[in-house]
Amino acid sequence: MRSGKFITLEGIDGAGKSTQLAWIVQLLQRVDCATVVTREPGGTPLGEQLRVLLLDKSITMHPETEALLMFAARREHLDKVILPALTLGQWVISDRFSDASFAYQGGGRGVNIQKLAILEQWTQDSVQPDLTLYFDVPVELGQQRVSQIKNADRFEQEQSDFFQRVRVAYRDRARQFPHRIKIIDSSLPLNEVKAAVEKILLNILKHG
Ligand SMILES: Nc1ncnc2c1ncn2[C@@H]1O[C@H](COP(=O)(O)OP(=O)(O)O)[C@@H](O)[C@H]1O
Ligand SMILES: [Mg+2]
Repeated sequence: MRSGKFITLEGIDGAGKSTQLAWIVQLLQRVDCATVVTREPGGTPLGEQLRVLLLDKSITMHPETEALLMFAARREHLDKVILPALTLGQWVISDRFSDASFAYQGGGRGVNIQKLAILEQWTQDSVQPDLTLYFDVPVELGQQRVSQIKNADRFEQEQSDFFQRVRVAYRDRARQFPHRIKIIDSSLPLNEVKAAVEKILLNILKHG
């Protein structure tokens, strides 16, 4: 069996992660890749409970507390889901991973990037995704796409300047790791975004 890859999807709300994720899974299954779909924050029983706390807008927390909880959930996620699946040769597709901490807690909340880098090293050691698809979309367009959401969570209730900082941080991160993070113009029509994703995936399937 082909050895699995660790693929993460990143981007602000409305960028199209969930839409593309469903399609990525279909593509991988068509070529017989065992696939595990997961998400952050979450992915484990403990992580999902931390997610509830992290998204609950009736709870306030220091930005560094938020970062620590994100990485705590991630440590569990690696131990219980990501690493075991990769060991079995499965493909792991995660809706968000550590780049989101650099974007949301770093860019959005202003947590010191060096502190986040220490947490990343502490939590992940040398584990990084093989591929990160960053769906880049202007904040206004992302917000338009999810404007039907009635009950915004603790992050979704933030103002657009917060998401502008998140987007800038995501783009900085992508520029810093150009081999791992592929920027996809997600303002394009759905089928064009899909085609861009397919091209990248077929390439990784062909060349590893
Ligand atoms: N490229 C696109 N063009 C137009 N609409 C899109 C596109 N990508 C996603 N959408 C729509 O935007 C909404 C949010 O997409 P979703 O995949 O849930 O984003 P995310 O998971 O990143 O928040 C959905 O209604 C989806 O159909
Ligand atoms: Mg989604």
